[in-house]
Amino acid sequence: MEGHVDPAAFRAAAGRFATGVTVVASRGPDGAPVAMTANSFTTVSTRPPTVLVSLMPGRTFQAVAATGRYAVSVLAAQDLALCGHFAGRPTARDAPDFVERDRFFVLPQALAAFACEVVRAVEVADHTLFIGEVAWCRHRDGAPLAFHASRFRHGLGAEIRPAEPLAYAAEAWAI
Ligand SMILES: Cc1cc2nc3c(=O)[nH]c(=O)nc-3n(C[C@H](O)[C@H](O)[C@H](O)COP(=O)(O)O)c2cc1C
Repeated sequence: MEGHVDPAAFRAAAGRFATGVTVVASRGPDGAPVAMTANSFTTVSTRPPTVLVSLMPGRTFQAVAATGRYAVSVLAAQDLALCGHFAGRPTARDAPDFVERDRFFVLPQALAAFACEVVRAVEVADHTLFIGEVAWCRHRDGAPLAFHASRFRHGLGAEIRPAEPLAYAAEAWAI
């Protein structure tokens, strides 16, 4: 199968799928948080509440594999600097303070946070899907940091209201 899709074309097409941006954190060998930027965060199910992140081997990957736990912090629009910080360009100025709760590390300024226990780890190509059951979560209002076609955006565009009532309840279609 390999070689049929041009990697650059694939990246460009995949980038048209707009996402938010998260910071995935776990506990390192010395007990301190290790974390990385990830936009592969996906909700999987509501019963029980289940999510996944797709991580390539690295420091955070190792911490998640070793502890069987990770926390996902959803970044707000004003936290673009944190995205760069946790994507491998750390600067002391941007170093954030994690808050620890029940041995999970979350960013206090996050729009949402999910504390996850790994229920399955599935190796696929050069990544591993860490499927996690949500032990607890929280959220607050605010404009999200959005990512689309390799660019970051402050929040989302204008709301679109359907001309006709939808055949389903949009609020119930969170995942
Ligand atoms: C917007 C954005 C999204 C990213 N999403 C992912 C992701 O979902 N999975 C992944 O493995 N790396 C992702 N990365 C790359 C990692 O953040 C980067 O490789 C990081 O340095 C890994 O850290 P670690 O190896 O120290 O844990 C993303 C980077 C950016 C800028």
